[in-house]
Amino acid sequence: MNREIYLDNSATTKPYQRVVDAVNDININVYGNPSSLHKKGIEAEKHIKRSKEIIAMTLGAKRDEVYFTSGGTEANNLAILGYLAGNPRKGKHIITSKIEHPSVIEVFNYLSSQGYKIDFLDVDRYGVLNINGLKDKICKDTSLISIIYVNNETGTIEPIDEVAKIKNSIGKDVVIHVDAVQAYGKMNINPKKYGIDIMTISSHKIHGPKGVGALYINKDVRIKPILFGGGQESSIRSGTENVSGIYGFGVAAQIAFESMEKNTKACYGLRELLLNKLLSDIGEVEIISPTNSSPYILNVSFKNIKSEVLLHHLEEKNIFVSTGAACSSKKNVHSHVLKALGLSPDIIEGAIRFSFSSNNTVEDIEETINALKDIIPKIKIKGGGKR
Ligand SMILES: Cc1ncc(COP(=O)(O)O)c(C=O)c1O
Repeated sequence: MNREIYLDNSATTKPYQRVVDAVNDININVYGNPSSLHKKGIEAEKHIKRSKEIIAMTLGAKRDEVYFTSGGTEANNLAILGYLAGNPRKGKHIITSKIEHPSVIEVFNYLSSQGYKIDFLDVDRYGVLNINGLKDKICKDTSLISIIYVNNETGTIEPIDEVAKIKNSIGKDVVIHVDAVQAYGKMNINPKKYGIDIMTISSHKIHGPKGVGALYINKDVRIKPILFGGGQESSIRSGTENVSGIYGFGVAAQIAFESMEKNTKACYGLRELLLNKLLSDIGEVEIISPTNSSPYILNVSFKNIKSEVLLHHLEEKNIFVSTGAACSSKKNVHSHVLKALGLSPDIIEGAIRFSFSSNNTVEDIEETINALKDIIPKIKIKGGGKR
């Protein structure tokens, strides 16, 4: 069996060994309920506080502006539904984009069935938000703008600072929520500096445990809970805390921030290498990601290839990639993100997302190119149409 080459790091990452050790240690030794009044509880609570301090520090935020959740999905739901519940007198108009993650889009689809007016902003061929359109859309009823920071399928980095500037220039009391799940730990984001009021992050995209995320909420923004119960997390998120997961998230966040520069440089190099080799050695590819995308993601369409067939041939060689967003790739529908880019169905059908982490090497890329050279002639659809 070939060695494993994991190029699906936007779906999830392999936890760092230090994270695994920390999680195991907490599960074995720090098993108290953080709400308990005895010392086992206090010890568990201390570990949550420690992790919160680390995450707040990485965001330039205060500890009491960070709330743990069960992941990015819950944090996105809490951000949107909790903000609207907490501010019922504000208008029922919301602005978002057409390329949000399903954990945002589906919330807005639900809200539009409940009488909210949602404007889904267009993006260009590379997934960049139509920023000029934003200004025209803001009206007296607008209460919330929710924009993804780095798109999980294309790696497109959205101009969040521009979004905040436009909002500020209009001087309206509109709150900005940012889904930063694919950005956190990979680029420096200081929500206060950027004018972000609420921000979603997730642990398993940065080599932390799965099932943990957090929401940054500026202390001046009012949010109501969407889960009711024991009043944990200052009553914003009830439910006994996932102590080991939360602690592991803190460990992962610390490592991510300490090694951010090094990792970004390494992934940028791997992305460039793959991109150049695809163009020179494979040919007949269309690069979907923009040139200045996140260095962690490269989305490419292979001409006259069905991406799912290619994915499984690569899998046989122990190389793991994705045909799109992991959560939607099992549904047999075209990616809403690639559709929003205006790509033709045959380009979408040939699209593969390669996503990198600091665990990847130059050899991984070279072996992937060799595998593609072997597989593509075998699976190419004969007499396929023009692009
Ligand atoms: C941009 C984005 N937002 C939200 C999520 C959901 O995060 P989680 O898997 O932690 O629920 C993901 C995960 O794929 C994502 O890529």
